[in-house]
Amino acid sequence: MRIAIDGPAAAGKSTVAKLLAKELGYLYIDTGAMYRALTLAALKSSVDLEKEHELVELANDTSITFQAGADGQQEIYVNEINVSKAIRDKDVTNHVSIVAKHRLIREKMVSMQQQLAEKGNVVMDGRDIGTHVLPNAEVKIFLIASVTERAERRHKENVENGFDSDLETLKDEIRKRDQLDSERDVSPLVKADDAIELDTTSMSINEVKDQILSIVIQKE
Ligand code: C5P
Repeated sequence: MRIAIDGPAAAGKSTVAKLLAKELGYLYIDTGAMYRALTLAALKSSVDLEKEHELVELANDTSITFQAGADGQQEIYVNEINVSKAIRDKDVTNHVSIVAKHRLIREKMVSMQQQLAEKGNVVMDGRDIGTHVLPNAEVKIFLIASVTERAERRHKENVENGFDSDLETLKDEIRKRDQLDSERDVSPLVKADDAIELDTTSMSINEVKDQILSIVIQKE
């Protein structure tokens, strides 16, 4: 069983995907974390994010891997260094969509994601999972929520994680990232024809998780 969860920034995809994976005993793969990891590496090595060939060179020299942490949570490593927290930094968040727009970078990431998905039952979240990474996924979900709701959720998360946060700035950043992700030439953020759309604006995380679970059970 492959469960693809796509949607715009901060729509609750990763929180729901993690809960679902835990409840079902499936592997969780956070594809956004992979683009973030490469962005972090690029920012650290002063690679020009607009130059695809520079990014490809960096990607070829960079190992991006997932490992289970002590608490069972998925941790992401760049060249053996745990960057799970660093990839959530504002600077990474505000540059990741530039890195993710390049065709050759996407091809590389998609191939890595498809290999990871071959390991068994998976819940994978991102922007192009139902359309490109796992086009034959048994369950495809497209999560949406209003910009205000998403900014408020991200604000709360930032405060909890000890990051500086301003609600109005977050709204602008989310709008900008959605626009870049939706308008890029290569596999833009778009709902797959056979995906089920869920508007999570006034739903709790558990309600969203339970709705997806009932969809999964129907498919089993
Ligand atoms: O999901 P998350 O917000 O962590 O994703 C960060 C960014 O990575 C997105 O805004 C998007 O630019 C890119 N991304 C993507 N395709 C995916 C997952 C993420 O382009 N499958």
